[in-house]
Amino acid sequence: MNLLAIETSCDETAAAVVRDGREILSSHVSSQIALHAPHGGVVPELAARAHLEMLAPVVDAALAGVEGGWEAVDAIAVTRGPGLAGCLVVGAAYAQAAARARCLPITGVSHLAGHVYSAWLADAELEPPFVALVVSGGHTDTIELSRHGEARRLASTRDDAVGEAFDKVARMLGLPYPGGPVVERAALTGNPRAFPLPRTRLEGAFSFSGLKTAVRYAIRDLPAEELDDHGIPRRAEVRDALAAAFQEAAVTQLVDGLEAAVEETGATSVAVVGGVAANRALAERVARRFAGLRVSVPPLRLCTDNAAMIGAAGWHRLAVHGPDTDGFDVDPSLAEFA
Ligand code: KG4
Ligand code: ZN
Repeated sequence: MNLLAIETSCDETAAAVVRDGREILSSHVSSQIALHAPHGGVVPELAARAHLEMLAPVVDAALAGVEGGWEAVDAIAVTRGPGLAGCLVVGAAYAQAAARARCLPITGVSHLAGHVYSAWLADAELEPPFVALVVSGGHTDTIELSRHGEARRLASTRDDAVGEAFDKVARMLGLPYPGGPVVERAALTGNPRAFPLPRTRLEGAFSFSGLKTAVRYAIRDLPAEELDDHGIPRRAEVRDALAAAFQEAAVTQLVDGLEAAVEETGATSVAVVGGVAANRALAERVARRFAGLRVSVPPLRLCTDNAAMIGAAGWHRLAVHGPDTDGFDVDPSLAEFA
């Protein structure tokens, strides 16, 4: 069965065709990074308008990569939430109109289930039950996928998502949006011990706002001559050390949280998914800490937002729940992981 999958929940317009959940026939992502970078973050209104402009060409490009085009499509999967309301509506309206016009079954998929299934998509030997650390710009959760279509959340962030913390720290250090990749690069050369930052350790939860504030105070407390007119560290050495100290503290908290989830469930397979899973320091630390377990971290193109993962999650959702009825609503705060 070929699924056409559509993803427009945040700042990437994406479409893919996925066969039987696991074989990516084509996958296209149009990124809006350049559009939002001058604003230092995603501007919802601009994002929705860009989806409106880009979605049809991106779907056409995905279908052009498949013999038969629309004729080869058996069902449609579209992200129903969570995400920005105006952005979700663009994808859902397009997908529902196409399903109606072509009499195709449709399934409304959780973006978070998509991230969880990106690991299953990338690793042919990964099967539930497994524990996943879901780390993105909007989410920081540990979940257990006990079987296909059935997941429960084990822990979640009390405040900021870890990706959001990377983005905010980047801003404080004068680095561009999105912050994750640039903070990671700066951290490569920085000394993480130059600035002692607090280690947050909560029972059954994550928290990143205290760490973010600690970085803010560490910058504020620098000698005046170390700061430029915008309050940003002048010297690359100081900037890189702060990036390294922040990343080290954030990664430690994530890996400790994943360990708690493994202890709670007795899982023998773990996955790290979502945009922050692109972070090498995190992937390496997880591989070391869980050396005795099966560890899956998808390749970069499946970590950051894409539609292939929606196709994988959608295929399972169709198998477990059957198609959704026409005209379903989007849900900006949907918290489903399967
Ligand atoms: O999953 P994603 O593409 O979109 C959301 O669903 O939010 O995640 C985007 C987030 C951003 O906060 C970005 O800074 C972060 O993932 N990110 C990273 C890295 N690459 C992207 N964070 C840390 N290290 C990276 N290499
Ligand atoms: Zn995402």
